[in-house]
Amino acid sequence: MAENLLEIKDLRYSFRTYGGTVKAVRGVSFDVKKGEVLGIVGESGCGKSVTAQSILRLNPEPPGFFEGGQIFFKGRDLLKLSEKEMRQIRGKEIGFIFQDPMTSLNPTMRVGAQIEEVFVGRNDVPKKEVHERALEIMRLVGISDVEKRFRQYPHELSGGMKQRVMIAIALVSHPDLIICDEPTTSLDVTIEAQILDLLLELRKKLGTSIIIITHDLGVIARICDRVVVMYGGEVLEHGTVNEIFYETAHPYTHGLMNSIAGLSTPKDAVLKPIEGTPPDLFAPPAGCPFAARCDYGMKVCAKYPPEFTSLSPSHATRCWLQHEYAPKIDLRTRREGTPDGKSE
Ligand SMILES: Nc1ncnc2c1ncn2[C@@H]1O[C@H](COP(=O)(O)OP(=O)(O)O)[C@@H](O)[C@H]1O
Ligand code: SF4
Ligand SMILES: [Mg+2]
Repeated sequence: MAENLLEIKDLRYSFRTYGGTVKAVRGVSFDVKKGEVLGIVGESGCGKSVTAQSILRLNPEPPGFFEGGQIFFKGRDLLKLSEKEMRQIRGKEIGFIFQDPMTSLNPTMRVGAQIEEVFVGRNDVPKKEVHERALEIMRLVGISDVEKRFRQYPHELSGGMKQRVMIAIALVSHPDLIICDEPTTSLDVTIEAQILDLLLELRKKLGTSIIIITHDLGVIARICDRVVVMYGGEVLEHGTVNEIFYETAHPYTHGLMNSIAGLSTPKDAVLKPIEGTPPDLFAPPAGCPFAARCDYGMKVCAKYPPEFTSLSPSHATRCWLQHEYAPKIDLRTRREGTPDGKSE
C-alpha cells in the first residue's frame, strides 16, 4: 500500500461568534496517499472548506480556533509548526486552488509576477530558472501564447484562463499535495472537463496528490480514487469511488446521490432533495448528526453517536444500521453517469 502523505486525526475546529461557538469540524479523520486523488463531498456548510483551510492553517483566527487533533504532512504535525515554517509549506509543498479565481488573484499584479511570487524568499531555485519554470508551468496548464499572457493582468483573461493561472500558481513549485476547493464551480462544462483532465495529467506527470472538494458527484466519479463523505462537521462514510457509488452504506450518502446532479446526469433525471436542514452546529446533536432527516432512523440514533464499521479495508460507514440487531437495509444504488465514465 502506498505511504500516507497526509494524515488527519480527530480534527476539531470551531469559531467563536456572538451567537456562541460554531463547532464546524467535529472529529474528522482521513488520510491521503502519495499520488492519490481524494474527493470530499457533502452539502454546503458541512465543514469541507474549514477542514481544507485547517490543513494550511488559513482559517481566520480569531474567530476560529483548533479544539484538537493532529495533521501530519510527510510525518510532521502541521499544527505544531511556527507561522514561519507554515509559510514554507503553503504554496510550496502544498498548493491550493480556491473557488473564486477573481478574489484569489491579485488584480493589480501581472499574471507572470504572481506565478513567480511563489519563489520569493527562496534560494533553492536560481533567478534565471524561475522565469523558465513559470513559462513551463503556464504551458503545462494549457495557456497558449505564454509570453504575452505573462505580461497581462487578471482582468484581461477569461474565467477559464484565470482558473488556469490559479492552477499554475498552485503547481509552479511542484507541490506534493494540491488542495482544490470547488475549483470548477464557476466554470462552464467544457472548461470544467479540461481542468479536471489537466489535474489528472499533472498527477500522472508529477505524482502529485490531490484533495478535491466538490458537491458535484460527476466530478468525483471522473477524477477521484477515494471519497470522504462529510455531514454536520463529521465524516459519515469513506471508501473508494466504486464503494461509495455502488456499495453505498450510509443513508446520507444515499440521499446525496439522489439529490445531486452529476456531470452526465440526464437532463430529465428526477432529483430528490434530502428533506430538512443540516444540524445546528452551535448545539450539535448528541447522536447521529443525520438523525433528524434520516428515513431509517431508530430510537438509538438521536441519543448515541454511531461508531465507524469497517466494510472492507478501504470502506467504512458510521451508522447504527450496521449494528447486528438493526434491520437489514440495502442502500446500494446503480445510477447513470457514475464511475464507468471515469477517465484515467
Ligand atoms: N469565519 C467564520 N466564522 C464563523 N463561522 C464560520 C466561519 N467560516 C466557516 N464558518 C462555519 O463553519 C461551518 C462550516 O463551513 P464550511 O467549511 O465553509 O462549509 P462547506 O465548505 O462544507 O460549505 C458553517 O457552519 C460555517 O457557517
Ligand atoms: S445512525 Fe441512524 S439516523 Fe444516522 S444515518 Fe444511520 S440509521 Fe440514519
Ligand atoms: Mg466550502
